[in-house]
Parts: sequence; structure tokens; C-alpha cells
Amino acid sequence: MKKNTLIISIILLAIIGCQKSTGIKEGRKDIDRKVDSVLNLMTLEEKIGQMNQYNGFWDVTGPVPSDGDAAKKYEHLRKGLVGSMLNVRGVANVKKVQKIAVEESRLGIPLIIGFDVIHGYETQSPIPIAESASWDLEAIKKSAAMAAKEAAAAGINWTFAPMVDISRDPRWGRVMEGAGEDTFLGSKIAVARVKGFQGEDLSSPATLAACAKHFAAYGFAESGKDYNTVDVGTSTLYNTILPPFKAAKDADVKTFMNAFNELNGIPATGNAFLQREILKGRWNFKGFVVSDWGSIMEMMAHGYVKDKKDAADLAVKAGSDMDMESYAYINELAELVNDGSVKESLIDDAVRRILKVKFELGLFEDPYKYCNEEREKSVIGSKEIQEAALDIAKKSIVLLKNENKVLPLKKSGQKIALIGGLAADKNSPLGSWRLAAKDNSAISVLEGMQKYKENELIYAEGASVAVGATNFINEVQVNLTDTSKFNKAIEAAKKSDVVVMVLGEVGFQSGEARSSTSLDLPGIQQELLEAVYQVNKNIVLVLNNGRPLTINWAEMNIPAIVEAWQLGSQTGNAVAQVLYGDYNPSGKLPMTFPRSVGQIPIYYNYKNTGRPGPKKEVFWSHYQDETNKPLYPFGYGLSYTTFSYNDIQVSTQGKNVKVIVNVTNTGEVEGKEVVQLYIRDMIASVTRPVKELKGFELITLKPKETKTVTFTLTEKELGFFNNTGAFIVEPGEFKVFVGGSSDTSLETSFDFL
Ligand code: GLC
Repeated sequence: MKKNTLIISIILLAIIGCQKSTGIKEGRKDIDRKVDSVLNLMTLEEKIGQMNQYNGFWDVTGPVPSDGDAAKKYEHLRKGLVGSMLNVRGVANVKKVQKIAVEESRLGIPLIIGFDVIHGYETQSPIPIAESASWDLEAIKKSAAMAAKEAAAAGINWTFAPMVDISRDPRWGRVMEGAGEDTFLGSKIAVARVKGFQGEDLSSPATLAACAKHFAAYGFAESGKDYNTVDVGTSTLYNTILPPFKAAKDADVKTFMNAFNELNGIPATGNAFLQREILKGRWNFKGFVVSDWGSIMEMMAHGYVKDKKDAADLAVKAGSDMDMESYAYINELAELVNDGSVKESLIDDAVRRILKVKFELGLFEDPYKYCNEEREKSVIGSKEIQEAALDIAKKSIVLLKNENKVLPLKKSGQKIALIGGLAADKNSPLGSWRLAAKDNSAISVLEGMQKYKENELIYAEGASVAVGATNFINEVQVNLTDTSKFNKAIEAAKKSDVVVMVLGEVGFQSGEARSSTSLDLPGIQQELLEAVYQVNKNIVLVLNNGRPLTINWAEMNIPAIVEAWQLGSQTGNAVAQVLYGDYNPSGKLPMTFPRSVGQIPIYYNYKNTGRPGPKKEVFWSHYQDETNKPLYPFGYGLSYTTFSYNDIQVSTQGKNVKVIVNVTNTGEVEGKEVVQLYIRDMIASVTRPVKELKGFELITLKPKETKTVTFTLTEKELGFFNNTGAFIVEPGEFKVFVGGSSDTSLETSFDFL
């Protein structure tokens, strides 16, 4: 270690040590003092270095880069001009870069290591929209905690998750990454994921700093086209888009990531209204904001800034604290400060925020605390993590249709044909945000079903979904013509009692930059489905997909349909246990399934308009060629049993409103039900939706058992944001609905005084 680094490190340790010696609990005040002590040692260049994040730029086990960008990044690392790196993973690699930052730079300030731990690190849990279908907040929190444990064991200490973007547009591929269309459910899930990732002790080497993204409105991209323009009104912004971010902030999320899109003409990265007025002002957020990849520079393409210098100037003033891979801050900020364009106090504020998170992660105490080889070996892929992945995978499955009790399958004496390009696929179920997963590491549906040995199982692919290998950065080449395997599949179906068909999307057909104008089964899968149907109508359709699909023909003709999303590493076990009835499906859709792309955006919490229908004449809000109704509504999902809802009652106690309902299991097997509560504010100074989810409870009922479920509505649930962003509660009539889906008709009403 160089002499001067040693001196500085001794000073730093003294600063840290003495405060520790006073025995003062590590509160915010204490950390703030430490942060200031470090900040006071830093040069302007070193401060700006903390605001600079680089992508992993060389194979650290290889030779040191000697030229080009990589050499410059390496130099910056050595000079303490890098605050964070992303996409460096594995203890050996993280240790290498951390060692350079800590032992070769003047001050030895540790790096914070970020990674997209979206639904798992090496072990994948279901994609986030699938987990959201469980409505099981504890299981979702556990899933995030397991992901954190595994990633932290690999040297990571910051995840770029949870993505909390609400979206009503399944053409947008990133709906797979969020919690669906509803703000109330999305807010609850945002909190569960933040608390799962960050745990009770952020300095533990089993937890990660979380990141609420993408701030804001990214899910409202025009025409569902990724990165596209967003133009929304204040009522949608305040009542639909912002609340999940506020919930994450209130759950003490340590970082935010801004968004690629412009919002109402101002790119999110340069949007002071979002980042300064709302996030750091009204919400008093004390963490830091990282730009999304290159988004500072992209303000040039937006036509918002003329060059990199202008971009750096506007981004830092708008509250973007860290620059991910634009090289704008590291190259331009010092000059902007020196020529007086940017106050150094802005730099200090950003650096304080970044250093504070590093202190909270324990990185100053021990920069290598996340770099333990033994822990890496014992934690990654552990039984505990696999079991959690299986648990949440089963809970994420939604039963969409089950006519004539085709499901559950008999466990013996049946000949089953398993058909579909995704049935034996061990890669697609990992989804698109599976960066650290081993290729082909998922348990396939075929493997899961082979564990049920009492039945004869014949597998026939029928048709591949994609042509050739698929990956994160290239378009998927869809199989549009190769029907050469149809006949074998048809033969298998002919001689079987039941046919299980696994159809849908390969993992990289949804996710970032995967927008689609069609939501039909991709390629020739519909042709395959109908060809098999000609010889055997006893079909169970298992969907593997990252977004709602317009499976109208299947809904009309196929007796059983299971929504199995992309369930991650334990896919096959989860699907098989549900198909065979070892787990009674309990999932509910977190996003509306449209009948046609022409209906989009279609969502359950729509406004009534001035011309609701239906009416005899044409003068009401409708289509000539399609119903207003979805294929499957938000909150919908069946079980192997049935439930009835009765005796809804409401009583007001002061400002609180109690809603009571009896739920009965009217079937033959035990089942779990997500009891959902919706309200409608009949008259308000800003029009309110015809239904709004304001409560849900998971209950398990034995056959014929009845439970009384009670919800309490407070001003928090009954109020809304007006167009100035003020939260208001107005007296008046409210309707209240309770049921197992948003299309419930069990209702009553009350007057809120
Ligand atoms: C991507 C994504 C963002 C991700 C980041 C780092 O482009 O938009 O969600 O966290 O870059 O990979």
C-alpha cells in the first residue's frame, strides 16, 4: 500500500474509530459526521470520481488493459476517480477491482458494486410480474432476501431493483419486470422487495442496497415502444405512477434510478421537477440517484442538450447524483465547477449521498466484507435458496381455465403427451434478466413431469419458438415456417389421454427493448395448438410468457389453461406440482389480459367517462368491432376448489370504515384465496376510477370452511391526489366491492362524512 494512502487510511480509521469508541449507535447523525470527515479530505476530482460509475471493463483475471477506453477506466480506478462499478461479479473479480480502488488510490474510498439482481442472482426466482401474481408479500420479500443473500455472497452490494414502474401496456416488454397495472398492489410489492433486499441490517454481507427504478413514468411509453416518449397528465402521475416510488422511499430504499424516457417534454435524467422538487424536496429522499445507462448523454439525442458538457450541467443540477456509463461527469464536471456554472455544493451533496450509502453498507469498515470465498461457495445455489425459489414459483402460477376438471392430472394410469417448444426448454424459464444464471440451469417442465413416474409421458417438441440461440442483446429470430416436427407431436397426441402443451415466449421475447405489436402466441405455435386439437381436444395449455397474451382461441376451445409465466430455476417442479394437484394454484393476475391489441391500454381501474354503456344507440364509449371487456381481468385466477362470498357489511367508526365479508370454500379440496377489496369514490373533485384496489388478504380454507374477513379503510385508502399533488380526502358516497377478482359484483356502499 502506498505511503500516502496509508496515512489517509489511518486518518479515516481514526475518524471512524473515535466515533465508534464513543459507543454512539451508528445513527444517521454519526454517519453524517463520518461522511463529512471524508468529504473534507477530498479534492474536487476525487469527489467527481465518486459520481462516476463504470461498467466492468476487463476480465480482471486477465492482463491489465493497456489501451483504449479500458486503459483509461483502469487509470481512473487507480486514481480514485471511480465511485462504483456494475457488472463485476464473483468474489475474485470484485476483490481485484476493490483492491485497486482501496489500496492504490490516494484516499482508498471503497467502490459500491452494483448489479441487476432483478429476480435472483445465480438462482432465478420467477420474473417479477409472476411473483406479483402470488399477491403473497411475505413470499415476495423472502424471494428478494434470498436473491440478496446469493448476490452479496458473490461480492455484490447494490441491486438495480425493484423496478416499480406501473404499466397498462403489455406491448411494452418490460412489464415482465414490474408488478403490473395496479398502484396499490405495486406499492405493497415495492415495499416487500425493498425490505427483502435491504433486510434489517444493510451492513450485513447478506443484504443489498436496493434501487427504485425507473424514475419516472417509464411504463407509460407511447405505443408500448420501449424508450419512447411519455406524456401523462398530473392525475395519472400523482395517483398511478408516483405512489409505488413514494412507498419505496418510505421503506427506506437507499437509491433511485432515473429513466430513459422524457416526461412531458423533459428527459427524466434532467428533470428537476421529478428529482429535486418531488423526490429530494417533497419526499425528502436522503439516498442517491443513479442515471440509467447512458441516459445523461442521451439527452443530446432527446434534443434537450447540445453536448456532453451541457448534459453534465443539466443532469447534476436536476439531481442525478451518479453517472452510469455516460462519461459526462468525469469529463465535464470539474470544468463546470471551475468556471462557476455548477456550484461545488451540488457536487458535495451528491457525494455525501453516495458516501452515506457506502458507510451504511459497512464498506468503509471493511471494503472486502462482501468478498468471502467460503461464503460464496456455501451460499450460491444453496438448498435454502432453491426451496424459496420453488415456493414462490408455485404461488405465482395462475389457473385461468379448468373445464370438466381436466386438472389436476391423475397421478397414475394416464398416457400424457407433452408438446411444445418450451416444454423441454431449460433457458427460457430463466427470463431475460438472468445475467448471472448459468445457461440451461432451469428445471424444465419435462424434467418436472418426469418425476411423476406412474404415468406414461411422451415428449414431442412440435415446433421451436425461436430459430437458433437467443441472448440479451440481439433480436430473437422467431420460427415462422418450420413445421417439420408437427407430425410427431400429432402422433403423440393421438395416442394419449391428455396433452400438456407448453407454449408462449422464449425468455428474451420480453424484457428491455422487447416491444411487440402482437400479443398472439409467437410464430407457428397457434398452428401447432390447433393441429393437436384436431386429434385430441383434452389439452392443458401451460403458458410460458413475460406479458399478457391475446389467447382468445385457446380461451374458447382449450379446456384447461395455466399461466406459468417464466418461473425461474424451479420452473419444472412448480408446474408439475400444480398440474398434478400437489399444489392448488392460488395466483391472481396482476395485469389485465386484453382480447386484442386494439384495446390497449386496457385496465380494470378505468374512468367511467361521460358516455358509459352499453346503450342502444352508438353514442357511448366503445368499439364497433370489439367488446370493452378484457379476456381476463385484473385480480382473476381460479383454484381447484371454489369460493363463495356472502354477507358483505360496512360500518363507519369515526374516520375509519370497516368492511366485513364471509368467504366459504364451497369445493372439495383445501384452497388459498386472495380476497380483494375495491372502492369507488362516486363523486370527487378529480374523477375517480370505477374501481380501485384498496385491500387484499390471502386466506386458506378447508372444504366447506367459512372465514370472516375484515378490512379497515382509512383516509389513506379513501383519499387521492389532486392536480397540484396534494393528497385530499372528500366526504361523499363510496361503493365498496369484495371478491376474488376485480370483476366482482358483490358490493355495498357507505357515506364518508
Ligand atoms: C439497463 C436498464 C436498467 C438497468 C441498467 C444496468 O439499460 O434500463 O434497468 O438496471 O441498464 O444494467
